[in-house]
Amino acid sequence: MQDQLSALLARARADFSALHTRPEFEAAKARLVGPNGGLTTLMKQMGTVPKEQRPALGRLINEAKAQLQALFDTTLRALEDAEIAAQLGPPVDASLPSPDGGPGTHHPLTLVCEEMCRILRKVGFTVADGSEVETEFYCFDALNTPPGHPSRDVKDTFYFPDTARFGNVSRRVDGEKYLLRTHTSSVQIRTMLKHPPPVRIVSPGRTFRRDTTDATHSANFHQLECLYVDKDVTVRDLKALLDYIFASLLGPDTKTRFRPHYFGYTEPSFEVDLSARHLPKVNKEWIEIGGCGMVDPSVYEAVGYDPAAWTGYAFGMGLERLAMMLYGIDDIRYFYQNDLRFLRQFA
Ligand code: DAH
Repeated sequence: MQDQLSALLARARADFSALHTRPEFEAAKARLVGPNGGLTTLMKQMGTVPKEQRPALGRLINEAKAQLQALFDTTLRALEDAEIAAQLGPPVDASLPSPDGGPGTHHPLTLVCEEMCRILRKVGFTVADGSEVETEFYCFDALNTPPGHPSRDVKDTFYFPDTARFGNVSRRVDGEKYLLRTHTSSVQIRTMLKHPPPVRIVSPGRTFRRDTTDATHSANFHQLECLYVDKDVTVRDLKALLDYIFASLLGPDTKTRFRPHYFGYTEPSFEVDLSARHLPKVNKEWIEIGGCGMVDPSVYEAVGYDPAAWTGYAFGMGLERLAMMLYGIDDIRYFYQNDLRFLRQFA
């Protein structure tokens, strides 16, 4: 019986090393351990051997079984590896350069944003960062925008549900609502709460409003905010800075004009228009580009600055509109479609 077992194992090894498919594997396995398989038949013969030889024989059979099982396992693993390799096809050299390589380029909004920051850095502004997820405090309350103001309406602002969690912590403070910032003016508050005056910052970034997308509107857009707080700052300084930055960006023929307006966080407040007929596709004399004014005393109070001691100006503008003027782009949607034919023009 021992010889028979050894012969059976030797044959099994030869059979299994030659097979290539799962049906072949199942058939070979059945020839050994199936109802009429070689090992099954030998086991049935156990009854015919003398009683005293049975324990030794049982041990031999168990050993053979274990060896066969190991053979089944390794063969099956090799078959699976071969199946995966067949699906993957010929080996790929991942170290080869990508066939569609080509240099990348900056997005037009990035170009305008970086150029504006460069222009403002030259006259002493520092780039400040904020957060796209804001609380009502930073976006509205501290900016003298009371509850019930139209810009706080759920029709205009994306609020997070009360149960919103950020990471694995719920950061709701004092029942305040979280929202996607509707303007970059919230960075004014974040900056002033962190730094004592004087401050001089520029803060570009993404903003969100519940707008229906069309050629000139997008629910997701970009603004650039500036804040300057110091002693004896006047409207004249504000106008001079705006004249300087727009002439630097769009050329010396560019003109700016103020129209009286209302913003809760500035007094007096203005809307800023640009005239730049020398640019391609600019077919209106005046184009509105943003809002500005002298920082309202209530804002200083909200951040703990002394309103009697400090003066300053702030303004905010849309980066898309600026980029559209500069490059002659007539539809805001081009910025977000990732169409290489559009983007390559800015390489
Ligand atoms: N936050 C305003 C908007 O989104 C723009 C603005 C107006 C910014 C006046 C300012 C400002 O800093 O003083 O329309």
